[in-house]
Amino acid sequence: MISNDDRPGHHARRRLQAEAAVQTNAAQSPQNPEALWPQAAQEVLHELRVHQIELVMQNEELQQAQLQLDAARARYFELYDQAPVGYVSVSRQGRILQTNRIAGTLLGMARNMLVGRRFSRFVLKEDQDLFYLNQKQVIESGRPQAFELRMVKTNGTSCWTRLEATAAQDPEDASVIHIVLLDISERKRSDATILDNAERISALSRRLIEVQEEERSNLARELHDEIGQVLTAVRLNLKVMERQDTQGTHRDSLERALNVVEQAIGQVRGLSLRLRPPVLDDLGLVPALRWLVLQQTGLHGLSIRVEANSDDIELSREVASACYRIAQEALTNAMRHAAAAGVMIRVVRGADSVAVSVRDDGGGFDLSGERGRAGFGLLGMAERAKLAGGTLRVWSEPGKGTEVRAEFGLGA
Ligand SMILES: Nc1ncnc2c1ncn2[C@@H]1O[C@H](COP(=O)(O)OP(=O)(O)O)[C@@H](O)[C@H]1O
Ligand SMILES: [Mg+2]
Repeated sequence: MISNDDRPGHHARRRLQAEAAVQTNAAQSPQNPEALWPQAAQEVLHELRVHQIELVMQNEELQQAQLQLDAARARYFELYDQAPVGYVSVSRQGRILQTNRIAGTLLGMARNMLVGRRFSRFVLKEDQDLFYLNQKQVIESGRPQAFELRMVKTNGTSCWTRLEATAAQDPEDASVIHIVLLDISERKRSDATILDNAERISALSRRLIEVQEEERSNLARELHDEIGQVLTAVRLNLKVMERQDTQGTHRDSLERALNVVEQAIGQVRGLSLRLRPPVLDDLGLVPALRWLVLQQTGLHGLSIRVEANSDDIELSREVASACYRIAQEALTNAMRHAAAAGVMIRVVRGADSVAVSVRDDGGGFDLSGERGRAGFGLLGMAERAKLAGGTLRVWSEPGKGTEVRAEFGLGA
């Protein structure tokens, strides 16, 4: 007997079943004339019968497998065809080999019409270079590539699409590229809206800061010129009254009134200067910073220094204001939070840039921590720098002090 599989495998099982069937058949016909045949012939006959039954069984299994295969193929096809994304298989030469239903909708053409056409014909002219570049990369690298471009339908309308291309081998072993198409026009539209809104907000913020500075200048001027003048006039009058009061009848009350007026004059001047120091507009950033520091000296037992490679730096009002306000806020922070012994304000005019930095030797703070992220001061400095076309960086570490540095390009 021939047995080529003595493991309890599939073939062995089928062989055993076939043998059992032959045995049953033999048992059912006891007056078998073959019993008289020579032994060798009987064995060959037996072998043939077993084989015959095996073949029948194999055939049934094949049919079963075929049915399962058909069902799987139908399921696969349904998945492929009903998928919510477009599938397109393209030959290495760029011709469409196969598509699913959605791809037909995305490209605006019946599926059977698509086969054989160049895929690139559906790519917007302006985006074709990008498409060819990516296709080349897919073939050369063998790795999937994803990119976004505009496809044009046959009716001329274009639509933002995300393409995910993968090189694969088809059964004939020629390179095929499978492309997944996703309609992303909705996302592109909301991206554009977000961008638009961000631009508007930033334009609005810039205008707000401009208006705020203008308003501060006006207020400062009004305080100084109008209220300051009025108070000065009151003081003059009080002085005249004091001189006329030869008997000294009103001396005490006049003295008190004069004191109050002097105080008010001082306060108005201080307020006016703090709102927007005229020196910023008249003499520029560095003198304004020196003036700012002068106002603070002695207040906190803190040594504040201003260093600059030039005292006469010409800046636009916008950049000068931004530098000044950033330095002012950074200095306030150093005084309020750092418990520093010294602060250094440095202004460096480069070939085509200006940088302002404020460094303290105080306690520092954790930049990634809650406090560093939540403050409007830090946020405001960054925003001001950005709106005036610059950048802001902050270095700080607990125990190692803090440095805030703003830099602006001064393009020709
Ligand atoms: N120079 C500094 N030294 C130490 N801590 C600082 C310094 N600057 C800022 N901080 C910390 O960062 C936080 C946020 O600062 P900021 O945004 O200016 O807000 P505010 O000054 O109103 O608290 C501060 O509360 C403080 O904890
Ligand atoms: Mg602050």
